[in-house]
Amino acid sequence: MTIHIGAAPGEIAETVLMPGDPYRAKWAAETFLQDAKLVNEVRGMLGYTGTWNGHRVTIQGSGMGMPSLSIYANELIRDYGAKTLIRIGSCGGMQDKVKVRDLILAMTASTVNSPSSGIFRELNYAPCADWGLLQAAAQAASKRGSATHIGGIYSSDVFYDERPDLNEQMVRHGILGVEMEAAELYTLAARHGCRALAVLTVSDHLGTGEALPSDQRERSFGDMVEIALEAAFS
Ligand code: HPA
Repeated sequence: MTIHIGAAPGEIAETVLMPGDPYRAKWAAETFLQDAKLVNEVRGMLGYTGTWNGHRVTIQGSGMGMPSLSIYANELIRDYGAKTLIRIGSCGGMQDKVKVRDLILAMTASTVNSPSSGIFRELNYAPCADWGLLQAAAQAASKRGSATHIGGIYSSDVFYDERPDLNEQMVRHGILGVEMEAAELYTLAARHGCRALAVLTVSDHLGTGEALPSDQRERSFGDMVEIALEAAFS
């Protein structure tokens, strides 16, 4: 047990999928894992451990934003021995070629600020995905014919953004989409010798204003979970 995770020692797998929404953790565990068992419900941040094709997997909610994800990722890595952490979540599309429902595999995650900024001080650290996981996820996505983009994303501290000028610069520099967690996940994984990746579904588009209706989110989310699982164990 840790401050924020109630699982007993040994109840968390070495491979952890991390959706932001705890109810998505429940849905994904009940849909894709065998023998899924609830291992955490502290603060309602649900976590489940089960098996997928015989491999042990935990699906643990991270909450929204880097400070929340940082708490769960730190405890999963440092106290429970997690080794592979894959964020599964949604993002806003930023390039014209990136359409709602497409997948983004985040090769890098830029930030203005993160919980690790205090450590890096003047250094502009470049958080990046684990190459093996990225390659395996790209193969899994291509096998199922999912429209997939691979490249840089932006991990923001705000959903309700007030910096159109900054977004303009990111679009200009090829940033594919915006979410709120990946940069800190990549940084923590690097610090502790773990593997990390973010597999994202484009749920809305900053340029067009289009948004995925809630009844269509589940299907796209399912593709993402299966790609993450295949990548983790390939
Ligand atoms: N901004 C930040 N995070 C997001 C967005 C967005 O537009 N869409 C989905 N997650």
